[in-house]
Amino acid sequence: MIEIDKKKSVNFSEIIKLNLTDFRNHDFTSITTNNRFISLVGENGSGKTNILEAISMFTSGRGLRGAQLSDQSNTNGKGGWSVFMEIKSHHGKTKLGTGISDLEISNGKNRQCRIDGKSIKSPKLFGNNIGIIWLTPQMDRLFIGSRSDRRKFFDKLISLIEPTHSDNIKNYERIITQRNKVLYNLDSLSSVWLDNLEKQLAKISISILLSRQIAVNQINKIMDADVKNNLFPSSKIIMREELDTLSKDISISEMEDSYIKILYRSRKKDKITYKTNIGPHRTDFTLFYKKNKMYAENCSTGEQKNLLISLILAESRVYQENNNGISPVLLLDEVTAHLDQERICNLFDQISELGSQTWLTGTTSDLFCYIQSKADFFDINNGKLTQIKP
Ligand SMILES: Nc1ncnc2c1ncn2[C@@H]1O[C@H](COP(=O)(O)OP(=O)(O)OP(=O)(O)O)[C@@H](O)[C@H]1O
Ligand SMILES: [Mg+2]
Repeated sequence: MIEIDKKKSVNFSEIIKLNLTDFRNHDFTSITTNNRFISLVGENGSGKTNILEAISMFTSGRGLRGAQLSDQSNTNGKGGWSVFMEIKSHHGKTKLGTGISDLEISNGKNRQCRIDGKSIKSPKLFGNNIGIIWLTPQMDRLFIGSRSDRRKFFDKLISLIEPTHSDNIKNYERIITQRNKVLYNLDSLSSVWLDNLEKQLAKISISILLSRQIAVNQINKIMDADVKNNLFPSSKIIMREELDTLSKDISISEMEDSYIKILYRSRKKDKITYKTNIGPHRTDFTLFYKKNKMYAENCSTGEQKNLLISLILAESRVYQENNNGISPVLLLDEVTAHLDQERICNLFDQISELGSQTWLTGTTSDLFCYIQSKADFFDINNGKLTQIKP
């Protein structure tokens, strides 16, 4: 066990204002925050998760629901939507905006992104100003759900630590699709085109494997550390089918060469099955719960939730280590479900220690009674927001 370095940092980044315009069931919602915890309270369907989804649009990709841009436009609105936030950090204030118009949606355009009024190429660049991590009730099924959902979840987690990872994954998927098509359409198994694609594939695959290795080692090290009063279990990320045949004691270019050979040998089988049967897209991830000596998929529902929280907390700590002490913003949707009172209380203690601004949702405010003095409370009713004193 190692002790985590508890040096308090003066570096921080948090959302002080958030505006949603025509986003889902919010015509116009404006939130100003004064505390580290923001509790969004309201009955089912009132629009709580929609607010977290709006914040999640300040990351690359499709946000916490993985939704289409058109589905996010208010059905009673003009067809487009926008989200704006103001961030306060040790550097001062920064304005971030993202959104899309009706016309842009019809023309299949991407959403626009701006930092302090200036257009930026990709939402990935928001990551220079703010780190965002979320946990939703859908993730409760992560360890028993599909392998590809799990891999996507872990790859996203790794991208926050190794920012080049998400582009590598995107390019990898594009080249795999091309390789499958070329293999399928060719009469013979040899082609210069295929050789070139496999060369590119080998390069990206090894980068993906290395990024995963680096990030997973960093998270595992933190999950093994002794964090004071932490009730969330010590666990370890396990990667399965991570090209075990590839020796780790060789140089990167030797690894790429070996991988090219592996792909070459797999051509016949891949042509028949019309898929690439080996590679980073086949990797599966799980957690190993150390105390019970059990893989996450065999743990109880509550234990799986605890393991997930452990992972999210460890990821936040790694993010903090890699970003000069700045904590990520946490979006925790219905996080108290499946947690006993002691663990709810402990989770809030752990987050306070971490210093992350945290957005929480729940159907009643008593779920957040432990943080009453440290939280802003908002009641949400049919997409309308009112600040309350619980
Ligand atoms: N594009 C849209 N336009 C208008 N309303 C929408 C749109 N998309 C979803 N909604 C509605 O938004 C409502 C609120 O959704 P949300 O998931 O935020 O609720 P919630 O408060 O988190 O509820 P729960 O407690 O059940 O999780 C739902 O009733 C849904 O039908
Ligand atoms: Mg919800």
